[in-house]
Amino acid sequence: MTTDTPPTLAVDIVIFGGAGDLSFRKLLPALYMAHLHTRFETATRIIAVGRQKWTRDEYLAFIDHQSPAFIEERAFNVDDWRIFLKRLDYVSMDVTQASDYAQLKTLCHAPALRVFYLATAPGLFTQICEQLSIAGLIDAQARVVLEKPLGTDLASARAINTEVARYFDEQQIYRIDHYLGKETVQNLMVLRFGNAIFEPLWRAPYIKSVQITVAEAVGVGSRAGFYDGAGALRDMVQNHLLQLLCIVAMEPPISFDADDVRDEKLKVLRSLRKMDLADIKRDTVRGQYTAGASEGAAVKGYKEEDNVPANSRTETFVALRANINNARWANVPFFLRTGKRMQKRQSEIIIEFADQPFSIFGATPHHEPNRLIISLQPEESIHLQMMVKEPGSGMNLHPVRLGLDLQQSSDKRRAEAYERLLMDVIKGRLTHFMRRDELEAAWTWVEPILNGWAALDDKPRDYSAGSWGPAASSALMARENLSWFEEA
Ligand code: BG6
Repeated sequence: MTTDTPPTLAVDIVIFGGAGDLSFRKLLPALYMAHLHTRFETATRIIAVGRQKWTRDEYLAFIDHQSPAFIEERAFNVDDWRIFLKRLDYVSMDVTQASDYAQLKTLCHAPALRVFYLATAPGLFTQICEQLSIAGLIDAQARVVLEKPLGTDLASARAINTEVARYFDEQQIYRIDHYLGKETVQNLMVLRFGNAIFEPLWRAPYIKSVQITVAEAVGVGSRAGFYDGAGALRDMVQNHLLQLLCIVAMEPPISFDADDVRDEKLKVLRSLRKMDLADIKRDTVRGQYTAGASEGAAVKGYKEEDNVPANSRTETFVALRANINNARWANVPFFLRTGKRMQKRQSEIIIEFADQPFSIFGATPHHEPNRLIISLQPEESIHLQMMVKEPGSGMNLHPVRLGLDLQQSSDKRRAEAYERLLMDVIKGRLTHFMRRDELEAAWTWVEPILNGWAALDDKPRDYSAGSWGPAASSALMARENLSWFEEA
């Protein structure tokens, strides 16, 4: 099902927001890798659209200056890079002006599959789709990729979806969440549904709790303009963390086809117990980083970062306890946590199994629960923590880990998330993209939390840059005799 078909189809990849951060950091490096590995038909073109009044040569000089730093060093080769740049074109345009689409049209050649990647502010999505339609650029094969954030709340997400649906069928719409393109996230489905041993235990009461942490060492960087209006709940939880939760919690889909997988994820989102004000107060923690140290260097607090208002109340950290109201997960808490400027970059999912009902070994001082530790980044690994006997005459137990290093397990190249997802778009595979109802269900659960924080006038709690977040985050787990799984 996943074997690559030879590239017989020429594609015009049109990137709106072609000079933006995402384009030069992620999209063009990903497209270069696809080019390097001959995943494109010879005539495939990349047409970047931007506001900057640049010529093609000026755009190429910009990309040549910016993007190589974001390409894995051993994959970068000047000769291949020069050939790749030949695929690129640039159109300077005001995307709201109908007349500006004429030049774009002259660059889109038939017969080619057209992929429109909208990496602009979501406020422009509707107008771009409308103008593409007026210009006659949308045919039945065309595909549109919608970058996050898709809206700032349920109403705005719905409005964008409704507008885009006027021009593209749902089967043509690829709502991207790059976490779904990560190798280990895709592997999580194989771990669950390609192995027999976990499924019988993958439920209450055999699982005591689930933790999902996406910790970043970086701060807000140059993105305050966007981030200060969004915050960690919208930026990370509404999409990436809830998608991870769905993959951990969903029922086995009847097949790997897009709608079968997405039906199951939707059910999880719909089963999330809605939080009322008392739940929000008890089960959520907002934080904001203050000055501290990150990876050995002194760093500023969030409020001192460029373009952040001095009185900002935006959260750069969230921890929360969620419940899934269904037969599999009743009473199993799901703890989610994400933050910027945390102690280190570490994303992992911890499945903590229930304690044994009775131990014949009596009190074991080093006892640890069985845990499945799924590391998404920076390492990609899966470990099963078990108790074994310590060598010696007594029956002393200690924890060890049965480990699988996914990087070592195969010498095949591991594509980055964006390359994988862009190739999925070209191949028409929707499984790893969000369907409209899924996205809206995620907002339906998240929105009351945003409203609740506003109603409670909830100020974010301080945490020092380089720490694991505010103390209240540990307290959230401690009251159930649990703790975040953190390793130095
Ligand atoms: C993006 C968020 O979606 O994901 C960023 O907008 C965040 O704020 C990024 O830094 C994290 O992605 P990754 O792949 O580096 O974990």
